[in-house]
Amino acid sequence: VTHTYTLANGYKIPVVGFGTWQSKDGEEAYNSVKWALESGYRHIDTAEAYGNEDSIGRAIKDSGIARKDLFITTKLWGTNSYEEASAALEKSLKDLQVDYVDLFLIHWPNPKAFRPDFVTRNANIWKAMEDGVKAGKVHSIGVSNFHERHLLPLLEVAEIKPVVNQILVNPSDQQLDIVEFNKAHDILTEAYSPLGTGKIFGVKELQDLAKKYGKSVAQIVLNWQLEKGYLPLPKSIHAERIAQNVDIFDFKLEADDIERIDGLHGKAGLAKNPDEVDF
Ligand code: A2P
Repeated sequence: VTHTYTLANGYKIPVVGFGTWQSKDGEEAYNSVKWALESGYRHIDTAEAYGNEDSIGRAIKDSGIARKDLFITTKLWGTNSYEEASAALEKSLKDLQVDYVDLFLIHWPNPKAFRPDFVTRNANIWKAMEDGVKAGKVHSIGVSNFHERHLLPLLEVAEIKPVVNQILVNPSDQQLDIVEFNKAHDILTEAYSPLGTGKIFGVKELQDLAKKYGKSVAQIVLNWQLEKGYLPLPKSIHAERIAQNVDIFDFKLEADDIERIDGLHGKAGLAKNPDEVDF
């Protein structure tokens, strides 16, 4: 993928990333990333919590692709202090076998143990992430699963602003309140589970559109994500699907059809609202 968005800090980011949530550590994660790189993905999204950073690191290394031509994102997990966050960054760099990550995210805003004091918790972690940027170990920093009430206090203390908020977005789960907030603050919306973890394939309207354009439902939905200005992170462990999900640049949805997809909110049954997930 050579198409890029430009983040608020000037760094470029390939408009589709390869998602690796639920790709099992070992052969599965290794092969899927290998196939993704062979299919032209240059943006890989992982997280400490996915437990597959080492397999992904190996696949990246074995690909022989120059580090500067790759965009690698990871996220910190279960870290609730400055020290823990700094250590998490070091561990991710080591497991991924890289000197820096392109993007480093706070995975969840509000772990159970820290309610209601998530404001302080996030501020402390953020400081460690900013220091990661200053030390050249991270290019850009951001958040994931943040709502306005989590982002507002962070924006107040952030010396370096978050440039990404990665949230669950698909036609059936559009999270427009967060998306609008992101836009207003120059924060790019990255869409995880852009295919609704597979749930959107049964939506009749999408199947009809797939027929009309001679594309797969996945390609229609991912193309819609780009039209909306989101950055989709489709996940698959099958070579064919991995290739298909990045082969989405040779057609354009008509305005009417984009609106039709806009109207599908709730159609596939929602995944649990991330804000309600408990840790
Ligand atoms: P698999 O990994 O077995 O290929 P999301 O990215 O929204 O989390 O969706 C991922 C789910 O959708 C996975 O179950 C994945 O299955 C499936 N999937 C991904 N790409 C495609 C595709 N192009 N066609 C059909 N299913 C797909």
